[in-house]
Formats: sequence, C-alpha cells, structure tokens
Amino acid sequence: MGNELDHRGYWDGDTDTNNMGSRSLESMAAERFSRRQTIMGSLQASAAAFLGTTLLAACGDDDDATAPVVSAGDSATARAGQTVTLQGSASGGTAGATAWRQNSGPAVTLTGSGDSVSFLAPGVAEDTELVFTYGAAANGLTATDSTTITVTPAQLAFTAVPKNRDDVVTVPAGYGVTVLMRTGDPIAAGVPAYANDGTDTNFAQRIGDHHDGLHYFGLNAAGTKDLTSSTRGLLVQNHENINNQYLHVNGSTNVSSGPRPVEEARKEIEAHGVAVTELRDTGNRAWTWVQDSGYNRRLTPMTPTVLMGPVRGTDYVKTVYSAAGTDGRGTINNCAIGVSAWATMLTCEENWAGYFRRPNSGATSDNANRSARELTSLRRYGVTSSMGSYAWSTTPSNEPIFRKWDARATAGSAVEDYRNEPNQYGWVVEFDPYNPAAAPRKRTALGRCGHEGAWLGLPVVGEPIAVYMGDDSRGEYLYKFVSATNWAAGDANAADPLAIGDKYLDRGTLHVARFNADGSGTWVPLVYGQVPNRPATGTDLEYVFADQADICINARLAGDAVRATPMDRPEWTGVNPVNGEIYLTLTNSNATSRPLNGTDAANPRHYNDPRGATNSAQLGNPNGHIIRLREEDGNSAATTFTWDIYLFGADNVDADPTNVNISGLVDENSFSSPDGLYFSRPTNPAGQGKPLMWLQTDDGAMTDRTHNQMLAAFPGSVGDGGARTITNTGANGATAEQATIVGAAATSATIKRFMTGPIECELTGVDTTPDGRTLFVGIQHPGEGGEPDAPTSHWPQSQSGNNTGRPRSALVAITKDDGGIVGI
Ligand code: FEO
Ligand code: CA
Ligand code: CA
Repeated sequence: MGNELDHRGYWDGDTDTNNMGSRSLESMAAERFSRRQTIMGSLQASAAAFLGTTLLAACGDDDDATAPVVSAGDSATARAGQTVTLQGSASGGTAGATAWRQNSGPAVTLTGSGDSVSFLAPGVAEDTELVFTYGAAANGLTATDSTTITVTPAQLAFTAVPKNRDDVVTVPAGYGVTVLMRTGDPIAAGVPAYANDGTDTNFAQRIGDHHDGLHYFGLNAAGTKDLTSSTRGLLVQNHENINNQYLHVNGSTNVSSGPRPVEEARKEIEAHGVAVTELRDTGNRAWTWVQDSGYNRRLTPMTPTVLMGPVRGTDYVKTVYSAAGTDGRGTINNCAIGVSAWATMLTCEENWAGYFRRPNSGATSDNANRSARELTSLRRYGVTSSMGSYAWSTTPSNEPIFRKWDARATAGSAVEDYRNEPNQYGWVVEFDPYNPAAAPRKRTALGRCGHEGAWLGLPVVGEPIAVYMGDDSRGEYLYKFVSATNWAAGDANAADPLAIGDKYLDRGTLHVARFNADGSGTWVPLVYGQVPNRPATGTDLEYVFADQADICINARLAGDAVRATPMDRPEWTGVNPVNGEIYLTLTNSNATSRPLNGTDAANPRHYNDPRGATNSAQLGNPNGHIIRLREEDGNSAATTFTWDIYLFGADNVDADPTNVNISGLVDENSFSSPDGLYFSRPTNPAGQGKPLMWLQTDDGAMTDRTHNQMLAAFPGSVGDGGARTITNTGANGATAEQATIVGAAATSATIKRFMTGPIECELTGVDTTPDGRTLFVGIQHPGEGGEPDAPTSHWPQSQSGNNTGRPRSALVAITKDDGGIVGI
C-alpha cells in the first residue's frame, strides 16, 4: 500500500509515512540544526499556539538542551469524504507534549490529540492542498514538521446497481437498507400495531400512505432543536395519496360512484397528509422511531390551518367553516417539499383538484350557480370530477370531513356550502416541525397550482429570499416567489419560526418563467395591474383579474396571460448549494401535450420510445429531461436568467443516440421520468466543493427494463455544453428540426444508478442526516396495481425474504457498512 488512502478511507500514517527509521544520522543532524532555527525563529509563536506557552518559557535558556526530532509523515492524498489520520512521531529528547494543527486549506476539525489526530477530508471542486504541522516539546524546546494532504474531489464510489425488476430495494455492495415507518405504523402511545389486513383504524395516529417528500430536522440528546444532530431527529414526510384497496378488508366499497361507508372514507382521508415522527440512532446508525414521542404529529385533511398572504380574508376562500375567509382545515396530496432558511417545513399541495365533487356538465353540475369567472378558474384547475377521488362526499354523514369534498354551489351563499373549498388547496403550506401545537400556515403569496415542491435559492444576507416552484401537470409552468423583505441571518434561529415565515413568505412578488430560444429566460412578474387579461379559450370567456388575491388563486391563468412557457410536467426544484444554480425536473410529456410541431428550445424532444416485447409506441417526450437555470449575476431577485438542459432521460437500449439519447446515457445510468431532485447537504463533504445530487424517477415508460430508481450525480454547471439542433420524429415518420441548448454529456463518473425500488413503486423524497452518513428515501405505492387478495408486491416484507402479505409504502434508511458518507 502506498500513501493513497485505502478503500476504507483510513490512512495509517504510522506505517506509510513515518520516514524516521531509514534516515541517516547525518540527515537527522542537519534537520536538528534546522529545527533549532525553527525553534528560535518565527514559528515559535505558532508552536506556542498549540503546545502551550509554558512549554516554551525556557526556550533559549539552555543552549545545551536537545530539541526533539519530529516527523509529520510523508505527504499523501485523500478523497473528499474519507477519514484521514495524521500520525506524527518524535524522538531525540525526553518525550514531551505533542500536537497537530492545520496551517492552510479549507478548515477541518481535528479529532484526537497528541501524535495521532484525524479529520474528514472536505468536499472540493479540484485537488486542494491542506497543510498540517506536527509539533513536539522536550527539554523546554519544541520542534515542528509539516505534511501536506492533497484532497481530491469526491467520486461516485460505488458500483452501479443494475436495472432490475426485483421486489426489493436494491443498493450497491457495501450498503445496507433499514425499513423504518411503514403505512399504518402507530405514532402515538397506546395505538396498536398495524395488522395490515384491512381491519386497522385511527390513521390520524398512524403513519399515512404513499410516502413522499421528506426532511430530517435534528434534535440534541436533551430532545430539543439542534439542526446539527445526526443521531436524533424529527423525520417529516408527506403522505401524498393512498393505495385504497389495501386499507380495507375487501378493498374499497363503491369507490367510484358511492355511497361510501363512513369509516372506510374516514380511514382513506386520514391516511393523507403529513407525518412528523421522532427517530433515534440507537448506535452506529441503527435507527428506530419513538412511538410515543411528544413531537409525533399527523397533519391530515382536517387539521386546522390558517390562510396567510393576499388571499386571507377574501371572498374567494369564505366557506361554511370560515365565514371570515381566514381559516381552513387540512392539507391534501402533499407531494414534494421545501425547507425554509429558518428551519420550517414547506409541504406542497399537488393534485388536490380531483378530490372535489363538481361535475362540469350534466344534471348534477352546479354550472348554473357559478359565474363565468368561477367556471374558467374551476376548469383551468380541473375541479371537474363527477364524484371526486374516492367519492368521499357520498358518505351518508353530515360530518364536515365528508361534506367538504362536495364543492358544488348548492346553497344560497358561499358561507353555507363548500363551493370555495377548492380555493383552500393548491398552496405551499408552512409548519414548524418542532411545535406540534402550531397550526400550519398556507402561504398564498406563493400562488396556487399543482405544487410539486418549493425550494429556496441560497439565502444571501441583505437580499430577498427566492422560492422556486414547479406546477406538476403537462404544459404547466415554473414559478419563482421573491420576498419583499431582505434576508437577515439572525432569523435563521428565531424562537418563533412561523413568524419569520410571515416576514418572508406573505409579501413579495410571484413570477413565472419564460424560456427563450437563445438560452436566456425571463421571470415575468404576476402583479395585479401588470398582468393583461387572460384571452378567451374554448368556452371560457376572457378573464379579467380583479385583484392580487385573484392572481394568487388563479396563478395558472395569470401565467397563461403573460405567455409563460408550458413545460413537460415541472416537478421538483433543487438548488446547487455551492453555485446557487436552480434545477427543475420535467418528468415527461405525451404526443397530445408535446406534438411533433409543438416543441420548443426548453422542451425540445418529440420521439417514440418503443416499450416491451411488442415495441408499443410511446410518443412525445416519455422519458423527460432536467433543465437548469443560472440567475443573472446570481441574484435571487433577478428578472432574467440563463438556462440549459442538464440531462435528457432515455432508454439507452433502443433510443436514437443522436436525437433522443442526447446525454449519452449508458446501462449504468439510463433513466426515465425524473421527479425527485435533491442536493446533498453542505454540512458534509457530499454537499461541498462539487456537490452530489440525488435524482429519483416516477416512471412508467422504461419500467419494461427496470423498476423506478434513484441515481447519484455530480452535475456540472449551466453552459458546460452548447447549442444543438436535433431532428424529432413523429408517429408517421414525419420529422422536424428543433434547436436547443444541451449540457455536457453524462458519463458513469458523473451519474450512476444508486438504488432501485420494489414492484410498482415510485421513489419519493430524499434527505440525509447532516453528517451524510444516513440517507432517507421514501418508497411510495409498491404493488399499486394489485388487489387485497392478490397483491402484486409484498414489500417491505419481501426485503427480508418474506413474500407474503399486503405491500406498504415505507421510509428506508440507507447506510454504508463502514459508516462512511453515503454515495461518495
Ligand atoms: Fe406528486 Fe408530481 O408528483
Ligand atoms: Ca424503450
Ligand atoms: Ca413527485
């Protein structure tokens, strides 16, 4: 073994770098002389700094004393994320105090003392030298020696997981999977264990279904807020939807047309929302959850909420529950997330529209009782379901938990029915995970849409806060909110973080993105008085905005009015913690939303991805892509930006390598339908220098080859590729040229498959502990296509070889066998 660190990330300096044994007496004598110069010279002060001044008090008093002979060992290299041990040695005098300190390079924390100390090699963008000095004192004299550790950038230091269709979570060799909270697991004292046979009740005190966006918030040993803790914390996770068939003994009764049994509907409703659960590391990352923690909490579709921002108190949100239009109940279809700079959770309401019963035609429609403006809004957001998802309002009960899903205008006024209930959803909802008593606040200034997530740009003191938000439907837009208030660092640790949310998220300017063909882009402000009328379309008349609340509620209409760029399903946003560039996953499109003649530079592809043995056609952009933006001057309030397409999803086996597999994906990294996107935390080497990005798929197009997956990547930056013109091909062989801007091609050094999920699942939600040594991932809807008596997956039981029972969504913790940082 040379001086390279070995695969365990441990450098045994005692063996490899101690050069004392082979040295001649002559060289030692020469060094002794030079050490004396050192002792008497300018390094005396720095030696004092780490050996203590008392040891130097006698320095120079006794010219006959013998200084120690020291060695800091040979210089070496280490990769970011590896643990480096520095081993010094001293001889030639009576043994005295020894110590290490850092002289240059990115600051690291030295642990240990005396001859041997260790540090974690930081994340770096390029080879970076860190110089350390070892000193020893004897006979009232000190001597020092230095060594250089060259830290090299992190690598994807794992073997790619092959594409597979196994009914397990598969991770690379050297990693382990722990299944944590599953659908139905109890999170309150006294709640029985989940039987998983359809008999369970009380989901308001159990983990919900369809695990989605998640984040870990640390607790210290005393159980109070400590964002740096990697051994105890609160795991906050969204529960987007349900596999309703598995929640009941024989599946859902009358689920499409009603009437629904009361207790079935109650269970399904309460299985939606968000869960906060305390997690503890019981030693070496053996995680478990605390069933009776006082922090545990469920937000359900009935949890009291408060409306904030421009919409608060307006007629648009007055209901039988809140005649003042200030309050609401619950949150639903919570998809991706954001995390504020003041340690609150932003949970995002995505496909809320379909839960409401409001047929847009026929005898049971309320169209006659609605204004033309209302109908335009309801149709634009898709509040047009004949029964509403799961037909909850068909239960024979007057309880609001069921009644509120009937959004028809049937009574004399808005405060006598739930016609305005749909306006209470579609928001970014902020709550404090550390305060179970505080009501969540719906931040209406951020606009109403099918919110996937809400990710903050890098906060800069004295500048506004920016929040980037995708609206997940085909042909929808990317939004940015810019706060009216400039960031003050002291707000990060405020005692009442929701009041800080009021400060930054209730006043500001919502914008929508327009992507230009030349790689530039514009943020168009959606400000009342500046937004033109939305033109008439189909049966909808021209829409005239009434006020800013109208624009916030009808952000999609405002986006239409200013000709925002329709995108191929805008999903997660993420921000590179080093350079601030913004990433947006665009899951996919089909031939209807992205026809051959309907491409543009930012959504450039239309092609066929043949599927399965029959090569059935999938037209449009079925594999999706990821676009990224750099704000002008890196300014969060910028109104212009530069963009390129970081990656194009593709089935590398059968895709045209020139016009479809544009990023050059190979077996180790081919993917389709990107959704979750998250950069590693800058609190550990994976999020520093050249930060690691996690990418999750929500695919149906390439599932003939592999289950959904998560990849790890080191993205470059906007502009690392160049302009390209591709040839698109439609169903009938017709072709069309499309110019676009593409990022650098992928390689298996820059993106690699890290994990795959079980049958029919989606991988959703990702975070790590601050130290990067535990990775949390959501596994959503395994076996979603099965039935109670014929499940198509048995995960998570199957993870340990038990291929029986109903599948459940679950959180998993992934750790490295050697305790290292996951992924690098
Ligand atoms: Fe809930 Fe767009 O995924
Ligand atoms: Ca294919
Ligand atoms: Ca999603």
